[in-house]
Formats: sequence, C-alpha cells, structure tokens
Amino acid sequence: MTPFSRRIEILPASQDQMPILANLLQLYIHDFTEFVDLDTERFSYPHLPCYWSEPDRHPFLVKLKGKLAGFVLVKKESGSPPFWDMAEFFILRKYRRQGIGTRVAQEVWGLFPGQWQVRVMSSNTPGNHFWSRAVSGFTGEPVHPACNEKNGASWHVFSFQSKPKP
Ligand SMILES: CC(C)(COP(=O)(O)OP(=O)(O)OC[C@H]1O[C@@H](n2cnc3c(N)ncnc32)[C@H](O)[C@@H]1OP(=O)(O)O)[C@@H](O)C(=O)NCCC(=O)NCCS
Repeated sequence: MTPFSRRIEILPASQDQMPILANLLQLYIHDFTEFVDLDTERFSYPHLPCYWSEPDRHPFLVKLKGKLAGFVLVKKESGSPPFWDMAEFFILRKYRRQGIGTRVAQEVWGLFPGQWQVRVMSSNTPGNHFWSRAVSGFTGEPVHPACNEKNGASWHVFSFQSKPKP
C-alpha cells in the first residue's frame, strides 16, 4: 500500500461536473503540445458529453485529500471480444512524480475486470515510461507494447488483462 492510498479518491464525475472536466481537458491537451503540433484558442474535445449519455463510458475525477488532482476517462470498445480503453488520463502537475498516477491507473483497472488497452503517442516519452511501469506493476510481467499508426500519428498500445478479484 502506498503512503497515498488512503487519501486518493477516484470519484465518478456527475454531469454537473462536466465543466470541471472540460477545464482539465484544456490543461491535458495543452500538455500534448509538447508532442504534437496543435494551435487553437480553445482545444476541442467533442466526445465529452457522451460520457453521460453512453453507458459504456465512465468519467472520473481524482482527488487527493479532497483536492482535485486529475481525471480519468474510461470507455468500452466494441472489439471481439470487447475491451476497456483508458481513453484519457491526467494528473495535475503539482501532484506528479509522487506515485499518484500509478495508484489511480491500477485502481481503475481493478474496477473494470477484463481485457484492457492503453494507447499512448510514441512521441510522449514520459507517458510511455509511465505506462510501462504502471502496466508491468499491475500485471507482474514485463510489457511489450505494440506499435501502430492512426490518423497520421504513431502510437504504442499496451494490452493486458485485469483479472476479477477472487
Ligand atoms: C503521465 C502522468 C499521468 C504520470 O502521472 P504521475 O502521477 O506523475 O506518475 P507516477 O508518479 O505514478 O510515475 C510513476 C513512474 O512513471 C514514470 N514517469 C512518470 N512521469 C514521468 C516523466 N515525466 N518522465 C519520465 N518518467 C516518468 C517514472 O518511472 C515514475 O517513477 P519515478 O517517479 O519513481 O521515476 C502525468 O505526467 C500526466 O498527467 N501527464 C500529462 C498527460 C499524459 O501524458 N497522460 C498519459 C498519456 S495518455
């Protein structure tokens, strides 16, 4: 158990909290301007309202000691078999490099047993380090992400199982 585990909360976000997520998404997408060339007055995330209208999407806010520390968006993808996708994942800068992201990711995987996929842009070096460690810590096995190209970008894809707790 990490020193934070009792103080981290992963709370389902209500529709009333959509503006909080919309604000955090601005910071999240802004972080990606280090890795991709984006120019805009306001970054757009058109799928956000779907997190309250589609049953296979799950929005969460992360709090540490009651203070907002990040967010997680999870969705189920209709593959064969279907799998869970860590659609978006963000920890606010002041809370980074303290093990919080790892704890949150691993708890979220535990909430949704089954096949999982985590995609990260190949150019997001910190993200790749983070997911490699978090996934291997969760599965207890070394990770070997697949590489693919989508929408003109190169991605690393981590695929693994979250086993139901006995
Ligand atoms: C990636 C992110 C979620 C990491 O959250 P975090 O709470 O700082 O992660 P942790 O403290 O649990 O990090 C665990 C390990 O991941 C690796 N890691 C995390 N951030 C890293 C960075 N910036 N550079 C290199 N390695 C990093 C390290 O191995 C770290 O262990 P260490 O601190 O003992 O060296 C956070 O930086 C973030 O929200 N970034 C912007 C959005 C993003 O890239 N999301 C994920 C991609 S989809």
